[in-house]
Amino acid sequence: MPATVIVGAQWGDEGKGKATDLLGSSVDYVVKFNGGNNAGHTVVIGDQKYALHLLPSGILTPGCVPVIGNGVVVDLAVLVQELDALLERGIDVSRLLLSANAHVIPEYNRNLDKVTERFLGSRRLGTTGRGIGPTYADKMNRVGIRVQDLFDEKILTQKVENVLELKGQILAKIYNRRAPEVRDTVEELLSYADRIGPMVADTGLLLNRALDRGETVLLEAGQATLLDVDHGTYPFVTSSSATAGGACTGSGIPPMRIDKVIGIVKAYTTRVGEGPFPTELQDESGERLRQAGAEFGTTTGRPRRCGWYDAVIARYAARVNGVTDFVLTKLDVLTGLERIPVCVAYDVDGTRHDEMPVNQSDFHHARPVYEELPGWSQDISGARSLEDLPANARAYVTAVEDLSGARISAVGVGPDREETVVLHSLA
Ligand code: IMP
Repeated sequence: MPATVIVGAQWGDEGKGKATDLLGSSVDYVVKFNGGNNAGHTVVIGDQKYALHLLPSGILTPGCVPVIGNGVVVDLAVLVQELDALLERGIDVSRLLLSANAHVIPEYNRNLDKVTERFLGSRRLGTTGRGIGPTYADKMNRVGIRVQDLFDEKILTQKVENVLELKGQILAKIYNRRAPEVRDTVEELLSYADRIGPMVADTGLLLNRALDRGETVLLEAGQATLLDVDHGTYPFVTSSSATAGGACTGSGIPPMRIDKVIGIVKAYTTRVGEGPFPTELQDESGERLRQAGAEFGTTTGRPRRCGWYDAVIARYAARVNGVTDFVLTKLDVLTGLERIPVCVAYDVDGTRHDEMPVNQSDFHHARPVYEELPGWSQDISGARSLEDLPANARAYVTAVEDLSGARISAVGVGPDREETVVLHSLA
């Protein structure tokens, strides 16, 4: 297992944290390669629950080196808060590495994210308000601030002056906010330099050297396939590359070194924020999934929109990412349902679509074509092999596998690390 990628196969919150954590114990490096503190991993170890937003979940695994790659956007205040919170709980965070090329999220971009959403009103995207979009826009616009700029005050000041020349006007004249002062912004950013200095590194070089030595690297995506800026339901997406291709650009590891792509897919579907969602349930079935699955955002606390399993998007995710193995999570949430619908195709104005429609407008009014599978009522949290599952739960797993374009190698049957049925080793 030289380099393995973990991606979300739906709209996020598939339970990547647990899967990463499962593998984390056998890997040397865990790399976050995209996104920022818009993500939320909840990892449960024994009776301890950890909610991580920015830090890679490998931070919880003794001996594993967690890496924040160049493709990430970093809110420095959040980074320091998360590190302090873990330190207080006795977790060793000294191994963390931070790419010198990662971009930082300055306060003006958090403000812009929030005021833009408010300005858009009913046309808003439902962002997390963490400044992610404006920071990636600055990166592409070549006016972003990188981690390494914190170590050259002259360059940092020039860059902040340059970017605020326009942004200050936008904040003040369009959104009626106070334009930030160059000096205040520079000082705020510089105040983190000493703390983060020891963790800053050429992470692409270190990761490739580690692979040369035969060490193992796990690349974990933030967000998910349908939120990817290129392959997701644009514009209702995040601003980064959340698919397997992004693992290369966001880490500096070339494609040929990646030999496994693990897609995390929930046994039903959820999404937060706005945008199309064909299998969404706006009735009590949706509420039941929300309550049983505790579907409330880790980062924002927002209730997640819930719906049945959508095999069309799972197949799409398998293709876009080159998924070699799926991990099917939260199967236990379906326990107690008499019948479980699974979306196998879409109906768009009388035409059946077995693949994602090419036009987003068609996806917006795609109606799911369902096949119904029989449910089960037995508690499955103690299952550790396929044979331990009731026949109908087994049949659900097999049906979903047949429909989704890659083998299912593990099934989550409860929140704890141990509550997993392993069908094929992921290591
Ligand atoms: P942004 O990433 O804050 O710009 O938000 C863009 C869209 O991505 C919104 O619909 C968010 O709700 C969604 N989003 C961002 N991060 C996550 C995540 O970790 N899980 C699920 N949805 C997310």
